[in-house]
Amino acid sequence: MPENKSLNITIVGTGYVGLTTGVSLAYLGHKVTCVDTNPAVISKLKEKTPTIYEHGLEELLHDAYDNLKFSTSLKDYVNSSDVIFICVGTPTKDNGDADTSGVEAVAREIGKHLEEKGQSANSQSTADTRGPVVVNKSTVPVGTQERVKAVIERSLKERNTEATFYTASVPEFLREGVAILDTLYPDRIVIGTDYKEAEDTLETLYKPLIDQNFKEPEAVKRPENYPNPAFIKTDPRSAELIKYAANAFLPMKISFINEIANLAEKLGADIDQVAKGIGSDSRISASFLGAGVGWGGSCFGKDTRALLYMAGEYGEELGLIKQARKTNYAQRMLLIEKLREELNILRGKTIAILGLSFKPGTDDLRDSPALDIIDKLLELGAFVKVYDPKAMDNFKEEYPDMEVDYARCEYSVLDDAHALMLITDWPEFKELDFTEANEKMKEKIVIDGRNIYDKEELESKGFVYRGVGR
Ligand code: UDX
Repeated sequence: MPENKSLNITIVGTGYVGLTTGVSLAYLGHKVTCVDTNPAVISKLKEKTPTIYEHGLEELLHDAYDNLKFSTSLKDYVNSSDVIFICVGTPTKDNGDADTSGVEAVAREIGKHLEEKGQSANSQSTADTRGPVVVNKSTVPVGTQERVKAVIERSLKERNTEATFYTASVPEFLREGVAILDTLYPDRIVIGTDYKEAEDTLETLYKPLIDQNFKEPEAVKRPENYPNPAFIKTDPRSAELIKYAANAFLPMKISFINEIANLAEKLGADIDQVAKGIGSDSRISASFLGAGVGWGGSCFGKDTRALLYMAGEYGEELGLIKQARKTNYAQRMLLIEKLREELNILRGKTIAILGLSFKPGTDDLRDSPALDIIDKLLELGAFVKVYDPKAMDNFKEEYPDMEVDYARCEYSVLDDAHALMLITDWPEFKELDFTEANEKMKEKIVIDGRNIYDKEELESKGFVYRGVGR
C-alpha cells in the first residue's frame, strides 16, 4: 500500500466541525493550522485545552499536538496551504435562510492574500497543484461554492493579481458527542468539485481514512466490522444538496415514527414492536426510528428551515419536510397534553424535568425539546424543577429568565414533584430507582419522552406511566 502523504492544511473556524476536523487530520499525519478570530479560543487550544466537549478530542489534541498550530491570522497561512477548510458558522437569518456572510468573509480574506504558487515567501505547499483547494465544510445553500469562487476571483482582480486556486465542497455529517468517531470512521466521504486537481488533492488528504490504514487512537477505537467508507465524487451543487438532503431525511424519519407512534397509541399497538418490525427491513434500517419527544439540536431544525427557504426560492414546496417539522414541534406539546390528561390543572403543580440538552452526551441546548416544554409549563402556571448532568450551567447562562429550580441530582429533582417528565435519554436516567422515586414524589406520574422506562415495572410500583406510542 503506498505511503500516506502529509499535506499542509488550514482550518478556518474552530467550532464543532473545524476543531474535530483539524485535530483528526493532524492525527492522521497532516500539518494543520487551526485559525479562529477569537484569541481566547486560540490561546486555550495552544495550551492543549479543548474549547468544546467531545469524546476523545482531548486525547487526540495531545497525541497530534506536534502536527498542530493555532493562530488568529489566516493571511499567514493562505499561501502555504494545500487545502483551506472553511468551517465557520452559517446562522439562520430571520427569513430562515442560512447566513453565509462568515463564509464569504473568509473567501475575501483568501483572495486578499493569495499569490501564484512560488511567488510568495511562505509558499511551501506540498501538493502537486498550482494553488490551494478552498473547501467549504459549512452547511451552505446550493451555489455557495460558485459564490466563494467568484468572491476570491473578485478580490484577486481588485489586486490585479493572478493566482491559481480550486474550490470544493466536502459536506460534514458528524454528530455531536461522537464527532471524532464520525470523522475517523465515516460512512462516506463526499467530495464535490469541478476540478480534477482538487479531487486528487482531497483523495490524498483523505487516503488514511479511505484505506483505514492509520493506527486507531486508544480513546476512539475503530468500530467492529467497520467497512471502509464510500468515497463519493460529485459536482459541487450535488455535494451541497447532499448535506441538506441528509439533514432533512433523518429528521423526517424520526417525525415519521412519531406520527406512527401517535397512531399506535390510539390503536393499542406498541411502537417499539412496530419500529423493530419495519427497521429490520434493510431498505428502511433500524436507526433513527426512536419515537418520543422528537428531534432538536443545532442542525436538523436550522437546516430543514434553510432547505425550505431555498426550495421556496425555486418554487418547490417540499411538503414532506414541511410536515416533518410541524410534526416535530407538535410532538413537544403532545407531552404536555399527556401531562394535563393526568393532572388536569397544572397551575401550582411541581413538575420534575429530567434532561435539558437536545440529546445525551452533550451540554448543547440548541433547539432542545426541553426548552419549549419548560416554557409551556411555566406559562401554564406550574413550578418546574430541572436536572441535567451536563447542561445546567448553559441553561442558567442562556435562559436566565426561565424561573426554574435547579436540582443536585436525578433524585433530588423528584422531591415533592407531582410528575416526572423525562426529556433527554442520559444513560444514568435509565437506571433511576423507582422505589426510591416513589418515596419522593407527591403524585406518581411519569411522562417518558424517550420511551426508556419499562411500563409494566413502573405500573407495578404504583406509577401512572405515559410513553409515546406504547
Ligand atoms: C445530526 C446528524 O445526525 C449529523 O449527521 C449532522 O452532521 C448534524 O445533525 P446531531 O444534531 O449531533 O447530528 O444529533 P443526532 O444524534 O443526529 O440527533 C438529533 C436529534 O434527533 C436528537 O434530539 C435526538 O434525540 C433525536 N433522535 C435521534 C430521536 O428523537 N430519535 C432517534 O431515533 C434518533
